[in-house]
Amino acid sequence: VRVAVLFGGRSTEHDVSCRSAAGVVQSLDRSRYEVVPVRITVEGEWIVGTDRATADVDEAALRAMTPEPDGWRPTLLESLFRALEALRGVDVVMPILHGPYGEDGTVQSVLELAGIPYVGSGVLASAASMDKEFTKKILAAEGIGVADGVVLRGENDAVTAAEQYRLGLPVFVKPARGGSSIGVSRVDDWAELPAAVEAARLCDAKVLVEAGVPGREIDVGVLELPDGRLVASPPLEIRVTDGFFDYDAKYREGRTEFLVPADLDPDTTEWLGAEAVRVFRTLGCAGLLRVDFFVDPHRGLTVNEVNTMPGLTAMSQFPRMWQAAGTPYPELLDLLVATALA
Ligand code: DAL
Ligand code: MG
Repeated sequence: VRVAVLFGGRSTEHDVSCRSAAGVVQSLDRSRYEVVPVRITVEGEWIVGTDRATADVDEAALRAMTPEPDGWRPTLLESLFRALEALRGVDVVMPILHGPYGEDGTVQSVLELAGIPYVGSGVLASAASMDKEFTKKILAAEGIGVADGVVLRGENDAVTAAEQYRLGLPVFVKPARGGSSIGVSRVDDWAELPAAVEAARLCDAKVLVEAGVPGREIDVGVLELPDGRLVASPPLEIRVTDGFFDYDAKYREGRTEFLVPADLDPDTTEWLGAEAVRVFRTLGCAGLLRVDFFVDPHRGLTVNEVNTMPGLTAMSQFPRMWQAAGTPYPELLDLLVATALA
């Protein structure tokens, strides 16, 4: 099977995507797959590499497989056409891209138009899941718990005094379409709000100000099997030693502990799995999804956010959850590919 692994991309999560792709390329069983790495630069140029069948592919090795062409640079459109041409003989694409221009339906739309099977959610589910305003509105309409919040759509929008009273402190200020907590801040004093909004606006003109939700931070993975069945992973609890689960805690060793399976009673574990599957179905996802919850004995389950292409670095939650379920990383990738081709 020829598999193209798309990685990098134009979003602020470019580097995270490179690390996720390194995890994927390392774990794909080379006796079954021929891998074609395709790197999308921060500027949006698509660079097709060749498979050198390196046994241990790290991020640097992966970048070396997709060297920047020297001299003449194609326009973005030309580079896209050339990449699609190179994908002719490919059986399936793995878009290992996080954030806008990758996880938001844009790349999925190109693959749909080109008629190339790909891993993960389609155009609408990707777009709806990337934008936290729409994710929450869709889930809330189905009665799924989400955090209260205010959407700031333009420069002149502000959180009114009544809204401040309603939300309470702390609040979390987030770019509506982002990931890996880039541009996210915790605000414990309303005087800090303008600076937090400004930081989020560097990532997205649309900003969410969300009420802090009490509870333990628990993630659940959902997989679509080749026969269409949806299965939930064991829940994973995130424990951060100080502060919240920000970029540093996500990607630097030491500040975060993952407990999988999380220490929960069997009823809560079952409820989480069922709710994660309901989220997957409500958003119309395909292939895989990571649903991030807050779990509180009084409030029940609150969905914080979802990820249609969850982090797949060696450190990330998704591969660890499935490992704990008895599905090692290479087998997880086999399932993703088989479902995309089913
Ligand atoms: N957005 C990052 C990659 C994650 O959710 O894991
Ligand atoms: Mg995310």
